[in-house]
Amino acid sequence: MPKQKTKILVIDDDPKVSWILSEGLPSHFEFVSARDGIEGIQMVATEKPDLILLDIKMQGMSGLEVLEKLNKSETRPDVIMLSGHGDTRYVVDSVRLGAAEFINKPFDVKEVEIHINGVLERSRLRSELARAKEELRSQKKYANFIGDSDPMLRVKALIEQVADSELTVLIRGESGTGKEIVARSLHELSGRRSQPFMKVNCAAIPRDLLEAELFGYEKGAFTGAHKNKQGRFEVANKGTIFLDEIGDMPMELQSKLLQVLEQQEFVRVGGVQTISVDVRIICATNRNLEEAIGEGQFRDDLFYRLNEITIFLPSLRERSDDVPLLVNHFLEKYNALYNRTYSGLSPDTISRLVGFHWPGNIRQLENMIKQVVVREDESIIDELIRSASHQTLKGTSGGSGGGAGFGGYSAPASYDPDDLSLKSVVGKRIAEEEKRLISHVLSKTNWNRRKAADLLQISYRSLLYKIKEYALNAAK
Ligand SMILES: Nc1ncnc2c1ncn2[C@@H]1O[C@H](COP(=O)(O)OP(=O)(O)OP(=O)(O)O)[C@@H](O)[C@H]1O
Ligand SMILES: [Mg+2]
Repeated sequence: MPKQKTKILVIDDDPKVSWILSEGLPSHFEFVSARDGIEGIQMVATEKPDLILLDIKMQGMSGLEVLEKLNKSETRPDVIMLSGHGDTRYVVDSVRLGAAEFINKPFDVKEVEIHINGVLERSRLRSELARAKEELRSQKKYANFIGDSDPMLRVKALIEQVADSELTVLIRGESGTGKEIVARSLHELSGRRSQPFMKVNCAAIPRDLLEAELFGYEKGAFTGAHKNKQGRFEVANKGTIFLDEIGDMPMELQSKLLQVLEQQEFVRVGGVQTISVDVRIICATNRNLEEAIGEGQFRDDLFYRLNEITIFLPSLRERSDDVPLLVNHFLEKYNALYNRTYSGLSPDTISRLVGFHWPGNIRQLENMIKQVVVREDESIIDELIRSASHQTLKGTSGGSGGGAGFGGYSAPASYDPDDLSLKSVVGKRIAEEEKRLISHVLSKTNWNRRKAADLLQISYRSLLYKIKEYALNAAK
């Protein structure tokens, strides 16, 4: 990829400075120059440079005065001061006025290049952070976290209890159940809310780049590592890092992550110096980690360490009470977004939506409502539900549930024509699901009831009660 040009404005009454730099630095730096402060200030407006090199001592307006004037505008590029012999007493004033760096004259061109790159990189990281914060603010995630069914109220209560702790939280649930919203909510409700929230999707970054991405690298660590680079853990310092799809993290990296969790420190790729960070870790996965441990793909010590608190997100079919609320929420959202005024779906359509088994959970419902709003036609719901059921049936008829990460979760796609009572069908479905999940967790924990109750996030007593109610026993 061709490098984008970086425009640098040199404000110096000695024309040689700009000439030496444009001769000595790589061609992706473009130099423009001004011979005095007044011309310099004008050129900041007309040339829009990415960086300014500003001489301290000049005829007329001094570098410090120029800096003071530039500070009056809302934004200005970073400024590196050029100071001649004997100017060191101005260093303090320049720092006070926000200069990013100092270079003594006479300078070595290579040294100037290092300073320029350092300042540009810091400014890039700053704007990346600002953008991420802005995105977070505008999304107001927690305000849009819809659901007042019992399972959701329990999830919300748990979020509020653990958000402002330093505990590592593992968020589990099927795809589309809202794991990312929960992660952002945990951050927003914590004391770290004004610090970065850094999301890393472990499945989306190529395996061999993930370590460098997370922990940074030192110049020369591998081909293409031309300079030192901070990793996401360093950038997220004081904030929260959200490791999404943690189940896809390669084994080699898992041990490094365990070390960070235990000591809050690590070494960059190719580095020797230990770097300490203060980062809260939140993870999410829709993979069955117990199975991954059994298959030797996930470290059990890491699993227990990540698992200080687990938030299980219920699937949408387990909380179908929330469907009408979610429908209204998405209708409002997409009417506003697409400038439509499409209102209410018929009670018939709503009850079809409530009864649907939502293999893609809330994401699937959201997409459906989006299409209805865009096309202003609720009749397409029938068609969408039919094709989604067809796909699910095709997808599940293939065999032993190989890819179904969440161990055997699939609801029947047909209904008993003699029992269409919403309450009764949903009640039975929930009971079946409860029984299945509880026996699944009990067998995963070798019938360790305390551990199982923890994973299920119910009390030990309720677990004993449910074991009796569903007549479960270790032989089954
Ligand atoms: N409780 C909720 N209220 C409103 N919108 C929700 C809720 N839960 C999820 N959504 C919306 O559903 C979509 C999917 O949510 P999210 O990306 O958090 O799911 P996920 O569990 O991370 O899925 P995946 O495992 O596929 O990454 C998003 O657009 C999100 O805004
Ligand atoms: Mg997600």
